[in-house]
Amino acid sequence: MKILLLVHSFNSLSQRLFVELRENGHEVSVEFDINDQTSIEAIELFQPELIIAPFLKRAIPEEIWHNTTCLIVHPGPPGDRGPSALDWAILNGEKEWGVTVLEANDIMDGGDIWASQTFPMRTASKGSIYRQEVTDAAVSATLQAVEYFISGNFQPQPQNQFVENFNMGPHQLMTQQDRSINWGKDSQELVLRKMNSADGFPGVLDDLCGRELFQYDAHPENVLSGEPGSIIAYSGDAICRATSDGKAVWIGHLRDKKSSHPFKLPATTVLSEIINTIPRSDTGGSYREISYREVDGVGILSFPFYNGAMGQEKCRELRTAYREAKTRDTRAIILLGGEDYWSNGMDLNRIEAADSPADESWENINAMDDLALEIMQTERQITISALQGNAGAGGVFLARAADLLWARTGVVLNPHYKDMGNLYGSEYWSYLLPRYAGTNNADSIMSQRLPMGVREANRLGLVDNLYGNDRDQFVEETITRALKLINHDDFNRQLEEKNARREKDETIRPLASYREEELDKMRLNFYGFDPSYHIARYNFIHKVHKSRTPVTLAIHRRVNPGIKPDG
Ligand code: COA
Repeated sequence: MKILLLVHSFNSLSQRLFVELRENGHEVSVEFDINDQTSIEAIELFQPELIIAPFLKRAIPEEIWHNTTCLIVHPGPPGDRGPSALDWAILNGEKEWGVTVLEANDIMDGGDIWASQTFPMRTASKGSIYRQEVTDAAVSATLQAVEYFISGNFQPQPQNQFVENFNMGPHQLMTQQDRSINWGKDSQELVLRKMNSADGFPGVLDDLCGRELFQYDAHPENVLSGEPGSIIAYSGDAICRATSDGKAVWIGHLRDKKSSHPFKLPATTVLSEIINTIPRSDTGGSYREISYREVDGVGILSFPFYNGAMGQEKCRELRTAYREAKTRDTRAIILLGGEDYWSNGMDLNRIEAADSPADESWENINAMDDLALEIMQTERQITISALQGNAGAGGVFLARAADLLWARTGVVLNPHYKDMGNLYGSEYWSYLLPRYAGTNNADSIMSQRLPMGVREANRLGLVDNLYGNDRDQFVEETITRALKLINHDDFNRQLEEKNARREKDETIRPLASYREEELDKMRLNFYGFDPSYHIARYNFIHKVHKSRTPVTLAIHRRVNPGIKPDG
């Protein structure tokens, strides 16, 4: 079936639906909802049988829904209507939430219901719940609705007849006032709920050291305490603020809208002038960005960096932790990344904020490469990258640096760099990709510039194994599989084989030579006359909305839709 995804932007949920619908054999094109006219034009060009809107910020015009069935994915259970759906659910402490697929009509989120799915709420940020529970529920409800649509005889349920609270009307857009923190009164639990309801966007605005700052990336601290609202410690990137109940919260990121860098940065960077006046907590109290544990001879390294961004310091810290893990008496190391993202490569925010973005990019990519090399040069253990969450750009190739790449079934990869201003990329991808996927597949993976589901990645050789829908189940199964691997009679032979393979590959062409060639191209990206990378990064960080849909996504806008954009 021809399906058009009409989206405000091609966000994680839209990417996942794109992947799943294509995997189910549908022809999918994408149009950014820029204005009524371009959307109508897209429909005329593509002639979709069905339109799906997984992420829109405004109503679909009548001219569109009147002629073609439009299914809206709303991040709330049946009867929930209006903006800030997930923000309200978190702030109100809902125990269960859901996703509803409804037909567009002239009532905001009031159309007939095609499918819905509920899930238990977790204590986590809005972004995390959106990327995990909402996305999984949205995919399953939308695929169900598509099946009903294909059957041709399904009657969607009118909301006003079936939903009790329909007449309550839509809720309001949540304001800063709704989630403002009263440090003198609010408990740690309430502060976290308010922060979580606003993370990734817009953050909770607060007066901090005489500045108006948006706060993000909050974690509980149960040992340290102090004067409510005051900054009582710092550790790594994060500051710790006391709450009224003798506890505290760590805040990893801040945004100063009025500064020359009005985007998210590590809290200690934004408050650099006063950070020396605050006591440093060497342990980071109850909050750790990198953690290591062992289960019966398997080392497990977690690194849930905010938004999967890995700046030069983070790469070095992780490399130190990894080197330490290598010295342990284990036979396998699992690189678990974070729940939401395994890695999204270099930290573009830090690069954008640096005095010399080119120098910072150079240091960052070298630190990424050092980490990738450290992983590839592991001789005593089998290494496994286990992707619970998505990975993008250099993050995908860093994951591929391990001997095995296992992924959760719903993971979406963006295994290419070109969208960031034709960045060439490094992380030894020019060795790793042909090595695991073969030369032909490597070329097509790098040039198609599309999100890729793990089934496709597995067919192409980029991913070795996929299993588990649920994250907890995925982690459990990963450990079970790793234990089976190291306890297998064949383990020593496998280890010898991998070391022999590495040795042989090194004699054919040393890793240093791949790195040098990649970095020569990267040097041009960073320091050369073509500013595309710097412009693309600026637009990405400042969230400059695209003025048209790229033809990689809008197949209806290609001159000849049969020809691939790079073909
Ligand atoms: N550095 C800093 N921040 C990053 C980042 C990076 N490499 N990658 C993602 N982010 C941030 C985004 O700015 C966004 O921030 P927000 O919370 O303020 O909105 C958040 O992570 C989520 O990213 P988003 O793009 O909304 O997520 P997505 O799931 O829709 O898309 C990617 C995932 C990977 C396709 C997209 O984030 C991307 O292209 N990232 C850049 C990858 C890259 O080029 N890295 C550098 C080369 S190695």
